[in-house]
Amino acid sequence: MIKVSPSILAADFAHLMRDIQKVEHSAAMLHIDVMDGHFVPNISIGVPVVESINQNTDLFLDIHLMIERPQDYVEAFVKAGGDLICFHLEADCDPKEVIETIHSFGKKAAVALKPGTPAAAVKPYIKDLDMVLVMTVEPGFGGQSFLPQMMEKVSAVRSYAEELNPSMDIQVDGGINEQTAKTAVQAGANVLVAGSFVFRSEDPEECVRKLNRL
Ligand code: DX5
Ligand code: ZN
Repeated sequence: MIKVSPSILAADFAHLMRDIQKVEHSAAMLHIDVMDGHFVPNISIGVPVVESINQNTDLFLDIHLMIERPQDYVEAFVKAGGDLICFHLEADCDPKEVIETIHSFGKKAAVALKPGTPAAAVKPYIKDLDMVLVMTVEPGFGGQSFLPQMMEKVSAVRSYAEELNPSMDIQVDGGINEQTAKTAVQAGANVLVAGSFVFRSEDPEECVRKLNRL
């Protein structure tokens, strides 16, 4: 089954709850991009915003950490209401330790791969993960074009999952719209992050429904 995770990076931050409410009935989860200005050259949302969102919605919160030291912030984002914590394999951390910390709080753990990181890098962790995020743009900014070359990586991660952890989710993030989502699903993705396609449209709810139907 396809799950859609609208990325609030493309929402209107001055009317954040209004925008979140537009997708509350159609989305499976809500994607929240956390950037520290070091791991990626941009700064976005932090702990207090996640806390406020959590107090105002029942949506499952999918936290995408684009930060240099994920280990230091897992607890804060869990306490703020994160249901799934995704960190980058390229960050300064011991991935096994970070996964264990996330699971020790009873939350779902995911690892993200930048476009330059090969699928093989995540293989040792597949057994322990709830999800792998294959980035389909360079992390840091919304509104970029989908990188079709990443589809081979999605297929490789799907074959690792079939062998080692069949219930694991595979997420794609970056440049997702109706067409690129179709390509990603065919390659083996089942969780679709979409920012601009959803929140920069006239009808965010219908955009999520279009992706749900794929
Ligand atoms: C980029 C973020 C994405 C971003 C996607 O670093 O991880 O979640 O919001 O935005 P679109 O869907 O506009 O490419
Ligand atoms: Zn993201």
